[in-house]
Amino acid sequence: MPHSTSNLHIFDHPLIHHKLSFIRDRTTNTRDFRRLLSEIAALMTYEVSREFATISCEVETPLERTTVRRLAAPITLVPVLRAGLGMTRGVLDLLPEARVGHIGIRRDESTALPVGYYTKLPKDIAAGPVILVDPMLATGGSCAHAITLLLEAGCSDIRVVCLVAAPEGVAFLARTHPTVRIYAAALDRELDDHKYIRPGLGDAGDRCYGTG
Ligand code: PRP
Ligand code: URA
Repeated sequence: MPHSTSNLHIFDHPLIHHKLSFIRDRTTNTRDFRRLLSEIAALMTYEVSREFATISCEVETPLERTTVRRLAAPITLVPVLRAGLGMTRGVLDLLPEARVGHIGIRRDESTALPVGYYTKLPKDIAAGPVILVDPMLATGGSCAHAITLLLEAGCSDIRVVCLVAAPEGVAFLARTHPTVRIYAAALDRELDDHKYIRPGLGDAGDRCYGTG
C-alpha cells in the first residue's frame, strides 16, 4: 500500500491492477466485468481483514488439545445496491461466515445527491467490524449516507472498500466521517461535469448488470 493518508489506503497489488485494467476497458463484457469485480473484491478483502482482532481458543486435534486463533467478532458485509452487490461473492469467498446487510441507494440523476430506498441490517451489527462495499466513490454522497445509517445502527468499526475513488469523494468522507477508513484499488484524477469519475470505468451498476 504505497499511498496512505489518514483515511485512505490505495492497494498496490499487481493482481488487483491487472484485473482493474480489464474492468476499465470499455470492451469488457458484462460476464467478465462481474467476474473481475468479484475477484478484485476477494483480493482486497484479504488485505482489509489483516487488522481484524483474533482471540485464542482451544480445540482438540485428532491427536491432542491445542490453542488456536479465531476472529474475535462477527463480521458484517454491507453492499450498497446495486453495484456493491457485484463485490459480495468475492468477499464471502474469503469470509463465508460473514453476515450480509443491504443498503439501497441511488444517485438522483439531476442533482447527483443520494436517495436511500432500502436498509436491512443484522440486529447486532455493532458487535463487530463492518465492510461497506461499493465499487465507485465519486462525490462520496452515497457512501456518506450509508455510513450515517451504519453509525445510527451503533457501528464503530466501518471500513469502506471500493474499486475506484475520486479525490472529491475521499475529501468529502474525510470531512463528514473522518474516522472511517477507505480502501481503494485506484485514486482517479477527478469528477467530470456529470459527477462521473475520470478516467473511471463508467457506470458500475449498468456495466455489472447489463442495463446500460
Ligand atoms: C453508483 C455507485 C455508488 C454511487 C457513487 O451507484 O455504485 O453507489 O453511484 O456516486 P457518489 O459517490 O457520487 O454518491 P448508482 O447511484 O449509479 O446506483 P446503481 O448502483 O443502482 O446503478
Ligand atoms: N457512479 C458510477 O457508477 N460511476 C461513476 O463514475 C460515478 C458514479
